Amino acid sequence: MCGIVGYTGPGNSVHSIIEGLSRLEYRGYDSAGICLKIDNELQILKKEGKLENLKKLINEQKPFSHTGIGHTRWATHGAVTTDNAHPHGNELFAVVHNGIIENAGALKKELLAEGFLFKSQTDSEVFLVLLTKFFKQSNNVLQSISKAFSTITGNSAFVIIEKASDKLYCIKRSAPLVVGDNKETREAFVSSDPFALIGFAPCIYFPQDSVICVSSVSDAEVSVNFYELDLKPSTRYKLQSNAMTMDTTTKGSYEHFMLKEIHEQASLIDHLAAYYIKNEGRKILDELKNLKTAGWHLTACGTAWHAGLVIKNYFEQINRQPASVDIASEFRYKNPILNKDEIGLFISQSGETADTLACQELCKERGIPAFSIVNVEGSTLFRNSDKNFLIHAGVEIGVASTKAFTLQVLTGFLMSRSIQATLDDSNLFTEIQLLSARIAELCSDTKLIKEIAQKIYNKKGFIFTGRGKYFPIALEGALKLKEIAYVHAEGYAAGELKHGPIALIDEHIVNIAIVGPELLEKTVSNIEEVKARRGRMVVVGPQNSPEIEQLSDHYIPLNFEGLPNLSPIYVNVALQFLAYHIAKLKGTDIDKPRNLAKSVTVE
Ligand code: AGP
Repeated sequence: MCGIVGYTGPGNSVHSIIEGLSRLEYRGYDSAGICLKIDNELQILKKEGKLENLKKLINEQKPFSHTGIGHTRWATHGAVTTDNAHPHGNELFAVVHNGIIENAGALKKELLAEGFLFKSQTDSEVFLVLLTKFFKQSNNVLQSISKAFSTITGNSAFVIIEKASDKLYCIKRSAPLVVGDNKETREAFVSSDPFALIGFAPCIYFPQDSVICVSSVSDAEVSVNFYELDLKPSTRYKLQSNAMTMDTTTKGSYEHFMLKEIHEQASLIDHLAAYYIKNEGRKILDELKNLKTAGWHLTACGTAWHAGLVIKNYFEQINRQPASVDIASEFRYKNPILNKDEIGLFISQSGETADTLACQELCKERGIPAFSIVNVEGSTLFRNSDKNFLIHAGVEIGVASTKAFTLQVLTGFLMSRSIQATLDDSNLFTEIQLLSARIAELCSDTKLIKEIAQKIYNKKGFIFTGRGKYFPIALEGALKLKEIAYVHAEGYAAGELKHGPIALIDEHIVNIAIVGPELLEKTVSNIEEVKARRGRMVVVGPQNSPEIEQLSDHYIPLNFEGLPNLSPIYVNVALQFLAYHIAKLKGTDIDKPRNLAKSVTVE
């Protein structure tokens, strides 16, 4: 997902822009650029590769500018080259873009036929040329932005600066964009993520789709104005104080953000339980009390989809309400059977995943209510849902989702218990406190997991297996390992091994088997099958189980006692650590794995 930062104010825009882009690096990108308004000229500096390359270029020139925009690009249209990097500019404007212009091809053909020239292969430049064309006709910036934006289709966010003023213009459609200001320092900011504005902008504005925002600074004040496409003033935006503090953006004593975020889980579990059971979140959950529905349609991607598979079990086992769980990119195109008395539940950490957003839109078109389990307040998913169940995970910087998964599942469990009207049962709070304590204990001593990682990290492939409520955890454990260690890993239902995957087993393959107390005897046979084929067996199972421990090459003992509902979260934390330590031994970029973005805002 691309990162956007814009600044105008009395300071040097370079510093705020580069700091903001640095904070957005975790989202994944392949080139970076900045455009600065210097002495009524627009100067563009851009480089493919890491932000460091752009910083070197800037340090050579040491530019000073009160107004500028910056961008980290995750290529969608056009190869990874300096020409295709953003910003795209000409003698009048410079533009940065996040998203996809779906009718760019046709528009570019028309513009070329009219004699306009292009420097890049990108769709984004089509917006710049359209804007310039309309401005030359009208000499009115707002009108030109409105017309250019109305001409393009697809989900996009644009930030524009012009040679003629120090204003920042921006507009979006189903893509993240926020505006910030600091009235004390008379500065204005724009970004694709509020996280880039932490510590800079006390006020954050969340404009809705198709609202043109104009930020400007005079000697006396900073102003942020909003307009509809017909240029009438707009009130379609939300104002929020920027509560996040700087410490969410530092690793503290941890080597990686991912490790920090794994360690945060125990306390975040306590906070979320208190929020939803005892504090202001309770009234939100109480709206579900005794809720009747013909069924749930859960849709999500990646880790969030795995969380949905665990939540499905709660809705079906605790509430006896049918729950389907679809991968969002499949659901949106399968013409799903949806009935008015059902509910759509969309799970997303970022709230900006394009496929998940498309499913939400589909459900709303079909007239079924949209609920969300989401982390980012003010995100597109959040703003378009009928009910939001925030997971309050704080900013999750590691691309590999850890604390978000834990809190998504916990939120789903609390929703289920609210439907059952058992939020005040003492056993509920007890189990959650036990979960938090067990995870804290696990975090305090990962020596055994580190040792096992040392013994298996060079193996050729990994098959994670689990039964029942642990099957989703096998999938999630495999995804974590794939994502950050770049090794082949698959998750399977334990009973599926003999239906094919067992052909893979030999001395180069590791089977990581999750053995819950519930189906112990069944799983023993699986272990014997793998051992008989010289496979390496790592078992995550109940402590004090000598029979299984003897069968395993490596055993991670966990205390499942008192966790009848939440043990999948607990087991998953052990697998998070295993993936982390294997990745460390492989020397990969754990927080920013190759080819990945933190939020996939394109199809
Ligand atoms: C998980 O570790 C991945 N980063 C990825 O699968 C992620 O869960 C998926 O892209 C969904 O993102 P979302 O939760 O922001 O919608």
